[in-house]
Amino acid sequence: MIDVRNITKTYGHGDTAFQALKGVSFTINDGEFVAIMGPSGSGKSTLMHILGCLDTPTSGTYLLDSKDVSTMNDEELADIRKDNIGFVFQSFNLLPRTTVLRNVLLPLVYAGVGEEERENRAKKALISAGMDETHFLHKSNELSGGQIQRVAIARALVNDPTLILADEPTGNLDTKTGEIVLGTFQKLNEDHGRTIVLITHEPDVAEHAQRIIMVRDGQIISDTKAHKQRSARHAFGK
Ligand SMILES: Nc1ncnc2c1ncn2[C@@H]1O[C@H](COP(=O)(O)OP(=O)(O)OP(=O)(O)O)[C@@H](O)[C@H]1O
Ligand SMILES: [Mg+2]
Repeated sequence: MIDVRNITKTYGHGDTAFQALKGVSFTINDGEFVAIMGPSGSGKSTLMHILGCLDTPTSGTYLLDSKDVSTMNDEELADIRKDNIGFVFQSFNLLPRTTVLRNVLLPLVYAGVGEEERENRAKKALISAGMDETHFLHKSNELSGGQIQRVAIARALVNDPTLILADEPTGNLDTKTGEIVLGTFQKLNEDHGRTIVLITHEPDVAEHAQRIIMVRDGQIISDTKAHKQRSARHAFGK
């Protein structure tokens, strides 16, 4: 489903140009659960933005479901994202002074889903992301770091995407909440066949994936099977 061939990404021009990706190639099949690891500044978020059709590579090809998305314009990319992709951003990007529920259902407004259905789907996504119902009508700027993260995850699930991209989704969570979040991803992967690509700094988190891609200085330095399939779901009886 994901087929990237020799993609590069250069930010800026002339003297200030910086090549964040230096020729990256791999494929990810439907239903895979892949972790991407690497030092800060190695190009992980840059790669994820390209995989998520938020940005296009400077050179190289990206085929998503056999469609060449590397040359699409912004409008075409937005359509692909709306129907296929759920994104958990490193910086979350929630709207402040807007309720939890509205933050989650907004993607469905743009997708043209009716009012009652989008509210139901948003509530369901919030519950599966481990968000307590008593907080649904709180404003997002009144939440703790962990709660913000759960809202961001719910928002990524609400359009029922086939591809879920998550940038450090457990970064600020305590161990138990982190396990619940990983359990949600594992359930989506195992029971619903969703493809998941997750960026993390933590080897423990990466071990929840089936495959680990290591990035350094804008290049892939290894691509291996994870050693053990540690299931957060089973540990927490979910
Ligand atoms: N919009 C931008 N303009 C210029 N340079 C950028 C831009 N975005 C990222 N970079 C640079 O590209 C490199 C890769 O950034 P990227 O955000 O992909 O790293 P990362 O691996 O996600 O790091 P982290 O683990 O800290 O999140 C960095 O050196 C960064 O400074
Ligand atoms: Mg990053």
